Amino acid sequence: MEFTVAITGASGAIYAQRTLMHMARSGVVERINLIMSEAATTVAKVELGVDLAKANSTAVNRWLGLPADSRLIQLHRLDNVAARPSSGSHPQEGMVIVPCSMGTLGAIASGAGTNLIHRAADVTLKENRRLVIVPRETPYNAIHLENMLRLARAGAYIIPASPGFYHRPQTIEALVDHLVFRILDHLGVPHSQDTKWRGLQEQTGELISTRKD
Ligand SMILES: Cc1cc2nc3c(=O)[nH]c(=O)nc-3n(C[C@H](O)[C@H](O)[C@H](O)COP(=O)(O)O)c2cc1C
Repeated sequence: MEFTVAITGASGAIYAQRTLMHMARSGVVERINLIMSEAATTVAKVELGVDLAKANSTAVNRWLGLPADSRLIQLHRLDNVAARPSSGSHPQEGMVIVPCSMGTLGAIASGAGTNLIHRAADVTLKENRRLVIVPRETPYNAIHLENMLRLARAGAYIIPASPGFYHRPQTIEALVDHLVFRILDHLGVPHSQDTKWRGLQEQTGELISTRKD
């Protein structure tokens, strides 16, 4: 399987990191085309203390805990609109933008993209491949919401960066992974975690009354 993963300058760089890590662990993903916006590297510095601005493949592998010589991740420059993901004739399963800024969301929704992330997303939609968008902003204004609706109508999966708590996460990683596994579910990438909800009692092992009396 081959995917494109784009990281933009919305808060939540850890979602990108753990999406990439779990894709690498899946054992079925052979190539990931990675594209980062400039703002993505700023946010990664702020949130994770990692400098990805001039990172090469080795540095990205280190960030993800992969062997230094791993060729799983192929890094593409944002301005390289001739890279593989920019053409629909290059076969791949789909793309995820995680996290997705409102700026990138708007560019894709308008169809007036200017960089490789926008182009790759446009191609993914026109080829009817899986496009997962993980928007993050709060609150959303009407323009953000309209852009999301537009993209959902065009076939994208909108999976906002709003993880659930019903699996009782004990760590930030467990909280983040809950969302990451939903992303992988929608990309068709297998993972080890069972994210299916089984009903209140089986899930919690407790009898919880939902009656209001
Ligand atoms: C620390 C930090 C956090 C940010 N968080 C968000 C966010 O959650 N959502 C968003 O849409 N923009 C956020 N921004 C602003 C975007 O990075 C900015 O709009 C940028 O131009 C987006 O460019 P890009 O879409 O090319 O990555 C943040 C910026 C910084 C520095």
